[in-house]
Amino acid sequence: MANAQGPETTGTVAPPLPTPRKTGGIGAATPRVDGRAKVTGAARYGSDFFGGPDPAYAFLATSAIARGRITEIDDSDARALPGVIDILTHRNVGDRVKPGKTFSDKGYMGTSIAPLASDRVWHDGQIVAVVVADSYEAARDAARRLRVSYADETPSASFDSPGTETVSAESKSKEGEKAGQEKPKVGDAPRAFEAAPVKIDQHYETPTQHHNPIELFTTTCAWDGDQLTVWESSQNVYGYQNGLAEQLGLEPSQIRVVSPFIGGAFGSRGSLTQRTALIALASKRIGRPVVLEATRQQGFTIATYRAETRHRIRLGADQSGKLTALIHEGWEVTSRKDEYKVAGTDASTRLYACPNIDSDVSIVHADRNTPGFMRSPPEVPYLFALESAMDELAYAAKIDPVELRRINDTDREPIKGLPYTSRSLMKCFDTAGQAFGWSRRSAQPGSMRDGDWMIGWGCASTMYPTQVGPAAARVTLRPDGAVRVQTAAHDIGTGAYTVIAQTAADRLGVPLDKVHVELGDTALPPAPVAGGSNTTASVCNVVAKACDEIRRKLAAAVTVSGGPLDGADPGRITLINASVMDDQGRMASLKDAVAKTGHGAVEAYAENIPHGAPPTAMQNLYKGQSALAGGAKLKDRIQFAFGAQFVEVRINARTREIRAPRIVGAYAGGTIVNPLTAKSQLMGGQIWGVSSALHEATEIDRRFARYYNDDLAEYLIPVNADITEVQTIFVPEEDHQVNELGIKGLGELGNVGLNAAVANAVFHATGVRIRKLPIRIESVL
Ligand code: MOS
Repeated sequence: MANAQGPETTGTVAPPLPTPRKTGGIGAATPRVDGRAKVTGAARYGSDFFGGPDPAYAFLATSAIARGRITEIDDSDARALPGVIDILTHRNVGDRVKPGKTFSDKGYMGTSIAPLASDRVWHDGQIVAVVVADSYEAARDAARRLRVSYADETPSASFDSPGTETVSAESKSKEGEKAGQEKPKVGDAPRAFEAAPVKIDQHYETPTQHHNPIELFTTTCAWDGDQLTVWESSQNVYGYQNGLAEQLGLEPSQIRVVSPFIGGAFGSRGSLTQRTALIALASKRIGRPVVLEATRQQGFTIATYRAETRHRIRLGADQSGKLTALIHEGWEVTSRKDEYKVAGTDASTRLYACPNIDSDVSIVHADRNTPGFMRSPPEVPYLFALESAMDELAYAAKIDPVELRRINDTDREPIKGLPYTSRSLMKCFDTAGQAFGWSRRSAQPGSMRDGDWMIGWGCASTMYPTQVGPAAARVTLRPDGAVRVQTAAHDIGTGAYTVIAQTAADRLGVPLDKVHVELGDTALPPAPVAGGSNTTASVCNVVAKACDEIRRKLAAAVTVSGGPLDGADPGRITLINASVMDDQGRMASLKDAVAKTGHGAVEAYAENIPHGAPPTAMQNLYKGQSALAGGAKLKDRIQFAFGAQFVEVRINARTREIRAPRIVGAYAGGTIVNPLTAKSQLMGGQIWGVSSALHEATEIDRRFARYYNDDLAEYLIPVNADITEVQTIFVPEEDHQVNELGIKGLGELGNVGLNAAVANAVFHATGVRIRKLPIRIESVL
């Protein structure tokens, strides 16, 4: 199936056409095209599929220990329950399901820990059995009647636990090849730091966090002969298809993955979890569709999470505040088995001018499930550390925090001296600062007060790499102006359906409501993982390319001798108002134009390989390998989106209750395809930023290496009462280098700097510097 839709034709790139402004086109603030389907329940999420009329239901049994072996599973009580059909354990699964390679190892999995491959237990909450029954209730009851015995060993929970193992993140080598990331470094940072007249040398910490999408981790599998269909909400359907094929020993063409709507992801559905292959196997064994709905608690251990991190930052500056040394060391927790890391020094060393930079990342192996991507994975913890340290430097050097950023602004990244494709950081600071009223701030910590409330104002930079992936799309235009766009991109709630429809409407000159977009299905041409904020840039560009191909086909048909626009220059034909128009203003109807092509409809398939991606990128994409290009990885330039974030905190002098009533962010992200959905996304990011700074943390019982606030009652997130005013401002920016349409990613940009901005505001309110997140009442007693 994967290659069935192979290239029809791609053609060459036409010169860009003047884009007529019209409602619903690129740049228009357009409400979501899928909004009605979502609020009426017509939109079907992964969890809404049952695979057929007579599905069986699975329930997971999970490990009660974090480290050791299973010595016995007594399933006699469970099997005796009416309705129980099958029980999968390591005894009957074993190597029938391969562990698969992790995402960071160029595989597809979030973890290489194959739960039913052996008796080995790697972490608390690992799947130890899958019970399948006629009803969910019977499966759940049976799972609870399993008696699992263990030989357990003392687990290591996190940093500072006995038995953890710290290794340099780049130490892992395969056949002499370094699997680790680059360690950004320039000049002689230790010496420059030693010599600096103004210095900061501090440690920072960020907590464990879990995604907690509202839609639970569900999977439905059904077989038709040797063909498997999987319904599961996913940010990466081609990745899931290819990963499952590897795990189950199938051809990718035997598997279809369907995920049209997604009830929250935040990174948790980017890599394949181990549950999916087990449900596919269960369905095969019993010859019926199987539906799994994991519980909220199980979601904490069968999927990934954001691992806790530690940082040491050393900043050296001269008396004017100019950085002379920057040393960023990071430590991240991962599982005993995998090497997952986020290694955010790629970003933190690319933010400010500095002649001497050093960085290092180490990973700490503990007896935990493997962490994974979550909401700006590298940038959130690493910029919390750097932007907190920059604020400390501002106070040490007696310079306004905004001015300190201006003093260290640059148009070339400091490691290799590459130019940014565009960088509007200080414009963002000026715009957001003005909206916030920063000039009214009194610099002295503890000097602003309103009755019982101590007021603090803080700010921070935000940045996110502009990453673009290879992508393919098929677009069909019918004589009545109806358009169908097909690509296996994903709308994780961010508005992908809408921006894709806008792009096609814009390029084909039809109203938005004539465009029908199909996403999230491996039966469609491939698109990259919905990660790294790449979807809008990757997919809108390839859809525009396919539309341009349609325009060329129509232009050729109408300008032939005897055609309705006989004699016109095909290169100057535009599509507008559901018609074909030449540069003299002569029009032909779409109906006539399509008829002239000799087909009932005009179809175009296009592929796009972004700048910096290897020529094999498209083959890799069909294999579910997205190969995102951009950020700090390009050889000839560097591309990031930037923003500035300001926060007001109010801390009650008696109770120490902390509020964040005012958040202002200004962002530059190149072309904004839809200012409405983009604003919603950034606003959501800003709120997540406050969430991360003041609320969110997964608590770990260190004796058992076990999460104990694993539900939405005790895993704190902000509610409406916690968020009062959020201002989201776009700073206009044109970037002709990032891609044809000039789109930078901004999905994750809103979340990054907020953590530090809040901590900096807390310092300004109280004079107490909090270097460990989240900041709660007990942090400021
Ligand atoms: Mo996002 S955390 O890059 O899926």
